[in-house]
Amino acid sequence: MTDAETVRAEQQALWNGIAGAAWVDEQVLLDRLFAPFAAMLAEASREVRGGQVLDVGCGTGATTLAIAGALGPGGECVGADISGPMIGLARARAEREGAAAHFVHADVESHGFAPASFDLVTSRFGVMFFGDPVRAFANLRRAVRDGGGLVLLVWRGTDENGFMTAAERAAAPLLPPQPARDPDASGQFAFADPDRVHAILTAAGWTGVEIAPVDVDCTMSDAELDGYVVRLGALARVLPTLDEALRDRVVAAVRAGFEPYRRDGLVRFTAACWMIRVRPARPTG
Ligand SMILES: C[S@@+](CC[C@H](N)C(=O)[O-])C[C@H]1O[C@@H](n2cnc3c(N)ncnc32)[C@H](O)[C@@H]1O
Repeated sequence: MTDAETVRAEQQALWNGIAGAAWVDEQVLLDRLFAPFAAMLAEASREVRGGQVLDVGCGTGATTLAIAGALGPGGECVGADISGPMIGLARARAEREGAAAHFVHADVESHGFAPASFDLVTSRFGVMFFGDPVRAFANLRRAVRDGGGLVLLVWRGTDENGFMTAAERAAAPLLPPQPARDPDASGQFAFADPDRVHAILTAAGWTGVEIAPVDVDCTMSDAELDGYVVRLGALARVLPTLDEALRDRVVAAVRAGFEPYRRDGLVRFTAACWMIRVRPARPTG
């Protein structure tokens, strides 16, 4: 297997396994936390009102539904995701809401989208997991019409997103040494380096790429934090492998590790992200 194939197989297993199940179970919390990002994508979609939008790595569908609502009459948003359980929940939500949203269960890196069939590609945190990002974005480029746009939300680096790695840092002294994080490896922070993102998109055929920081203040209750820490992030993969006594010590250390983020009875953090855009040109003819 090539490195890209290994990554694809790992991501496929993760999102159809432990990570997909956690995102389904925590859907209400995650959608509330990240609602401002869904609103940003919906707002950007208004530029292609009445058009077709492809929402990449759409997960349980919150952004797909928000975009479908913003597109107005004649518009449609298609959500694509590699995770069966997450797409299942997204489809059920769209049906319940009667939304102009449809879903494709597929790896967007290789899926045969109809050429030039979309006006805009969007994503909230769904494009950092590809085995071969240039191949994936070239595939997406073929799926949009000439002059089609792109609006992606991705995480900036761990240095600016201390909350996202607080659990790992707190647990580290109790666990065997973990390999150092490769900043370019597929995963939550793979698009943190704007020069790398620019190079990937340019190599994939996108032009006019703009990258700007966006910061969003997020809050959750203490009870929600417990579920978040145990079910989501890197620690979620390690905890089930530990014996009960060690697991309890790790969870206690991790709870203490979030102390700097507790204020006025709530857990507060800033999500430090990039908005990556290619603005859509008006369709001709
Ligand atoms: C961090 S979650 C974000 C989910 C959703 N966009 C949201 O904001 O709620 C990342 C999503 O990307 C999806 N994903 C990862 N690799 C993918 C691929 N190659 N093709 C399609 N979806 C993929 C995962 O299944 C997951 O739903």
